[in-house]
Amino acid sequence: MSARAAADAFERAFGHPPTGVWAAPGRVNLIGEYTDVNEGFVLPLALPHTVRAAAAPRDDGRLRLHRGDDPATGWAELGPADLAPGRTTGWAAYPAGVLWALREAGHELGGADLQIDGDVPQGAGLSSSAALECAVALALAGTAGLGLDPRETARICQRAENAFVGVPCGIMDQTASVSCVAGHALHLDTRDLAHRQVPFDPEAAGLRLLVVDTRVKHALADGAYAQRRAGCEAGARALGVRALRDVPHDRLEDALDRLPDSGLRALVRHVVTEDERVRQAVERLDAGDVRAVGPLLDAGHASLRDDFRVSCPELDLAVAVANSAGALGARMTGAGFGGSVVALAPAERAADVERAVLGAFARAGHARPRVFAVVAGAGARRLA
Ligand code: GLA
Repeated sequence: MSARAAADAFERAFGHPPTGVWAAPGRVNLIGEYTDVNEGFVLPLALPHTVRAAAAPRDDGRLRLHRGDDPATGWAELGPADLAPGRTTGWAAYPAGVLWALREAGHELGGADLQIDGDVPQGAGLSSSAALECAVALALAGTAGLGLDPRETARICQRAENAFVGVPCGIMDQTASVSCVAGHALHLDTRDLAHRQVPFDPEAAGLRLLVVDTRVKHALADGAYAQRRAGCEAGARALGVRALRDVPHDRLEDALDRLPDSGLRALVRHVVTEDERVRQAVERLDAGDVRAVGPLLDAGHASLRDDFRVSCPELDLAVAVANSAGALGARMTGAGFGGSVVALAPAERAADVERAVLGAFARAGHARPRVFAVVAGAGARRLA
């Protein structure tokens, strides 16, 4: 959807024009899963898909929200009492949480009218929530004339999700949404948010990056995510480190020997080897060898499936079938329990991979997945 269309939708909903239109992308994580909740390293890229927020300020402190095309539906109107954690639920909690977190961070903000649209697949492990938070943060800051730097924006959006929506996510998705640059993957140290843009252009290497949205919906809030996170923290405590990122890969065996049970050992092994896979992926991309990232995707998937235990049959099937149809490697991406797979395939095999995945899902009686190729898109920005 163009900025013009977003502005028109705003005007149809609110009866006056917006002062601006902002967009923030979803992301696909190339590698580095569940490392951000261990202060480790990740390597996401922005999707071409975005959430758009058209906005105008209000001076009564209220937040009026509308999403979609139909002015008769999709409304939420929030007053001061609703703008506190626990008081607003559903999709409106994300924009409300961002306004709350901005105010909590000391920014003096009135209210706003916001029109929300977008094409980031929802519940697909592609960070539609972070895209919504970041688009709203840019819109609220933009209409109020606030200068927010990308790190602060990401932290505010994460706070909104943790403390207002109630999902204990890490900082990867929000940072990817605000800091990614087209044609690059973002090598991010989630401890201090230091990052480097790593050139990532699979097309130039004759490859395609494919996303398979299994359409199996995950619910991050259902406790499994929090339970993995708590397990990692218990592992760090047992090893006497601040976070698992502080366990060096070449000391992993020693660390595992010091852990009391096999469950903790499996969680720690995933996180420490995953940080190492991120390091190797960056090294291979820097050397111009995109193909060599394939085996790292496979190793990452096996680790998430067998050690971290966040995969599911549909994700495992998509990975296995993509590989047997010619992909160079594939893995689940995002929090798991459904959502998407990312696969790296030679351009001439991309159609085979898609056909094979659709066929295998039909034979297994699963819902029809959505398969699409992505290029590394731009981070959050003002459109108009
Ligand atoms: C979700 C969270 C992220 C990250 C991933 C798993 O996307 O929002 O912070 O933890 O899961 O890597």
